[in-house]
Amino acid sequence: MKKVYIETYGCQMNQADSEVVASILKNNNYEATNDILEADLILVNTCSIRENAEQRVKKRLIEFDSLRKKKSWLKIGVLGCMAERLQKQLVEECNVDIVVGPDSYRDIPYLLNEAEKNNKSYISAILSEDETYADITPVKLDTNGVTAFISIMRGCENFCSYCVVPYTRGKERSRDPQTIIGEAQDLFNKGYREVTLLGQNVNSYIWNKGQVNEINFAKLMELVAKISPLLRVRFSTSHPKDISQELLDTIAKYDNICKFIHLPMQSGSTAMLKKMNRKYTREDYMNKITAIKNTIKDCGISTDIIAGFCSETIEDHKETLSMMEWVGYDSAFMFNYSQRSNTLAAKKYEDDIPYKEKTRRLEEIIELQRRLSLESNQKDVGKIFEVLIEGVSKRSKEQLFGRNSQNKVIIFDKKDTKIGEYAQVKVTSCTSATLFGEII
Ligand code: SAH
Ligand code: SF4
Ligand code: F3S
Repeated sequence: MKKVYIETYGCQMNQADSEVVASILKNNNYEATNDILEADLILVNTCSIRENAEQRVKKRLIEFDSLRKKKSWLKIGVLGCMAERLQKQLVEECNVDIVVGPDSYRDIPYLLNEAEKNNKSYISAILSEDETYADITPVKLDTNGVTAFISIMRGCENFCSYCVVPYTRGKERSRDPQTIIGEAQDLFNKGYREVTLLGQNVNSYIWNKGQVNEINFAKLMELVAKISPLLRVRFSTSHPKDISQELLDTIAKYDNICKFIHLPMQSGSTAMLKKMNRKYTREDYMNKITAIKNTIKDCGISTDIIAGFCSETIEDHKETLSMMEWVGYDSAFMFNYSQRSNTLAAKKYEDDIPYKEKTRRLEEIIELQRRLSLESNQKDVGKIFEVLIEGVSKRSKEQLFGRNSQNKVIIFDKKDTKIGEYAQVKVTSCTSATLFGEII
């Protein structure tokens, strides 16, 4: 068998896709390796969400290319969102052999074969309306054997004005629920104890729409939760405009559905949200948060925030800060706005907040979140949580780490517990990033 090294950037959906690609290649005589030096094929699964994500990959491609000096037969391929967005440019500027968009991964073996035979580069990047790779059992890469991602849908049609995803991932489509449940059951049988259902907008998941046997996202969550009370279920990402009371009720009803919701706010200003085409106002967002807090006891909440979007005023920025304070997020992903060509924002609005000012606002956001995370963690000191143990702590071999239902990482002395088990852990101290505890 030949060896393939796959390097993955971007979101969890890309991680899940890399496992689909590893599976397709395994059936075509390629075995995955973690050692780039023994690879016959290097694939990089890429992200276009911000400019710096693309820059990083371009630098990596130069490094990969230099490995050909010692290995003339080495093939290099680009997958994912950059492949879809840049296509020919990658062949011309980065000397890659195959460029394959997110809906064309079944073509990889054929493209490789052609590239080897003819010593030419090949591109396949047509977006599909129905490809979900539903029948492919992913080959787990870098796995801890405990937690896994399951892709439940592909694409996005929300067209938030700043975002490239609708262009790189195409139309929204849901995967056959039987194959999702089958994959989750199979993972559980293999010893996995947590699955995260993935989509860019999971609330729009729909199967058999309008028929008696219709399955929406809340129903799907319930079906997966029923596999076993020992299997934790999470999901990502939920769009605030679509998160339903039915889903919140389902989360509250099942102990094994984790009490954690990632609800990207982007901005606390209604004017900015309108320009971003998010289709909710500040008040709508607050109402959703109130519904979460009223329905689900002790629910962890995290978010995404963009600093310095087009013509954002100091008042808009302050509304983001006040919203953060009002919600009291447990954690957040925070970014400078990065203009992406061809998006609605790039066409309609000027990217007019200077980089220095964007960064100043971002730092203010990060600083506030650090305090909010610390306050949230301090409230947990003294509490006892059920933790699913995921691995050995980076700090010491004698310590393990896991997460509680609210998605917080807890580190503790291992005693006689093992990875993959549940443990009751009492929190004894914390930083803004981590809880520390002891097994009881
Ligand atoms: N589908 C998810 C988001 C996926 S992208 C959702 O809608 O919630 C992850 C995050 O990247 C977004 O929530 C947003 O905060 C950020 N992001 C997307 N495009 C960006 C851009 N052009 N500049 C900066 N951040 C961006
Ligand atoms: Fe991008 Fe908006 Fe779709 Fe999320 S919902 S992927 S931010 S267009
Ligand atoms: Fe990036 Fe594409 Fe995911 S742009 S965030 S890898 S969908």
